Amino acid sequence: MIIAVDGPTASGKGTIAKALAHHFGLPHLDTGLLYRAVGRQCFLDGGDPDDPVDALAACAFPEGLLEDPELRSEASGGLASRVSIHPTVRKALYERQRTFATQPAGAVLDGRDIGTVIAPEAQAKLFVVASVEARAQRRFLEMHAQGRDISLEAITADLAARDERDRGRKDAPLVAAADALVIDTSDLKREEAIAAAIAAVDALR
Ligand code: C5P
Repeated sequence: MIIAVDGPTASGKGTIAKALAHHFGLPHLDTGLLYRAVGRQCFLDGGDPDDPVDALAACAFPEGLLEDPELRSEASGGLASRVSIHPTVRKALYERQRTFATQPAGAVLDGRDIGTVIAPEAQAKLFVVASVEARAQRRFLEMHAQGRDISLEAITADLAARDERDRGRKDAPLVAAADALVIDTSDLKREEAIAAAIAAVDALR
């Protein structure tokens, strides 16, 4: 079984994907991490994330980079959303995601284009959304728990900018697959969102 979990930043898709993988005993790939690694590598190389050639070169990042906690930062998220615009970058990362998705054991992948591009044949497709306010508030609490001092306004502006880039790009824009089930987590607690996702997958498979 392939489970595709797509949606914008801080919608709760990562939490849901991890919980689904645990519940159904499937391997899980956070595909955003791959784009974050490309963005971070581009930065480390002194490249320009908006330049397709520099961004493509950064796709050869070392495996160890995926373990770097810096990939979780807002800065890396911003870089990821810039390098992920380039079709050449998306192509370079396609095979790796495709191989993961089609392993015999089945898989859970979360990202932006899993249900539309990477695994359109997925048996279960979830599109996880939440209001910008709810997502900014979550991010705000997360960052402050980590001791980072960043304002709610700055987080909201950053989320809105990334949403616009992800939705507006020509190649693999953030959009729900026609056969995806939408879960709005704005007013759901973590456990409620997970329960809703498990019930949805049970009904779809
Ligand atoms: O999900 P996450 O916030 O880690 O993703 C970081 C960025 O990587 C997103 O804003 C998006 O631009 C890009 N991305 C993508 N396709 C995916 C996963 C992430 O374009 N499948």
